[in-house]
Amino acid sequence: MGAQARSLTAVEDCARRVAERHNVSEIRIPALERLELFQHSSGETSDIVEKQMYSFVDRDEAETTIALRPEGTPGVVRAYIEAGLDRSDPEQRFYYVGPMFRRERPQKGRFRQFSQFGVEIFGRPDPATDAELMLMVDELRRELGLELMFEINSLGDAECRPRYRHAVLEYGRAHLGELCEDCRHRLERNPLRLLDCKIDVKLAEAAPKSRDYLCDNCRAHFATVRELLTDAGVPHAVNPRLVRGLDYYTRTTFEVTSTAVGAQSAVAAGGRYDGLVESLGGAAVAGTGFAIGVDRLALALDAAHFASRADAALAALGDAAMRRAMTLAAEMRAAGLRVELLSPGRGLKALMRRADKIGARYAVIIGDNELASATVALRDLKTSTQSEVAQADLIAALSAAGANRRA
Ligand code: HAM
Repeated sequence: MGAQARSLTAVEDCARRVAERHNVSEIRIPALERLELFQHSSGETSDIVEKQMYSFVDRDEAETTIALRPEGTPGVVRAYIEAGLDRSDPEQRFYYVGPMFRRERPQKGRFRQFSQFGVEIFGRPDPATDAELMLMVDELRRELGLELMFEINSLGDAECRPRYRHAVLEYGRAHLGELCEDCRHRLERNPLRLLDCKIDVKLAEAAPKSRDYLCDNCRAHFATVRELLTDAGVPHAVNPRLVRGLDYYTRTTFEVTSTAVGAQSAVAAGGRYDGLVESLGGAAVAGTGFAIGVDRLALALDAAHFASRADAALAALGDAAMRRAMTLAAEMRAAGLRVELLSPGRGLKALMRRADKIGARYAVIIGDNELASATVALRDLKTSTQSEVAQADLIAALSAAGANRRA
């Protein structure tokens, strides 16, 4: 509520503007999907599918198992294939925003219901698209005035990734006795997860690095992504342990972190998933995307910035003044100002307390005298100075004072 809700909306609105500027269009996807969709895309051995999904058996005849979506990518891919776009018009650019659900132990920045803003681009296998996605996050960062760090990696493709997977598997087998329970349990099925283990950090650091196993095409792709990011002035670091918790990634993966949100520092993440459309029954179409954790970015924003939002409080003293105040308030709002018409029947002191509470920069006061002279008393609540302004000049005076520049 209040400032918190406003900062979530501010992040979402800003992300929409950035996406629209990149000619990305909105897609609305359902919050409920069949469980298998996530098993077949996010991955059987991902934490999401193994431990974090909320699912239930529907009462239909087939007793379908339904899940609350833990992420947006699989639903977008399903909708894309169902609409036949993979064959009729494969190059598509979508964004979505909405709630996601994961069974978590709630803490700062980690919720069981949270909002993601995601972008998914289909039919673009080129490295410029990977770089463009990170540029979108960077534009968002600039507009919100945040400091964020970008980390990237390449996991290789269908040609070179199996070699890398095998090398990590062999490495894991050689260190089996030292692995944590989770890593041991999933080593044979998903050895790469060993690399981002929070427990086996030393082992993960010494593990084989994907860059040493990339084929020429993947190496060139990764080098171009990095060059384009450097040209665009997006500072980034290569993190060879960035394998991500979801199974569908190929080639570029990235994660964006903030130091302002505590332990849950990842505020956005994404990467390329060139085999996913095909593996879900569609054509062989490239895919790449990212999702922002809206709640985490909102936490990183200065909440105080969103706390004081009213530009002006309009105080009417008496019934006749109130009628004029209603029309003045409408004119001020039409000029883009955020105005609260204060509750009538209270004394000036109580009215000014309310003006203060809603963080108004200006109070516009109108009583019988002002009514007679077609003026208002305009009080700057920051400097505690007051002047008489003609009602006809009020909007110009407020604009000249920068009342609608929220700082
Ligand atoms: P993800 O890394 O699982 O990727 O989630 C993306 C972002 O969602 C995270 O970086 C984080 O900011 C936020 N997030 C995740 N879990 C929580 C939580 N429990 N509470 C608050 N925020 C959370 C994906 O979901 C992929 N679908 C991203 C993607 C799109 N890759 C390609 N396209």
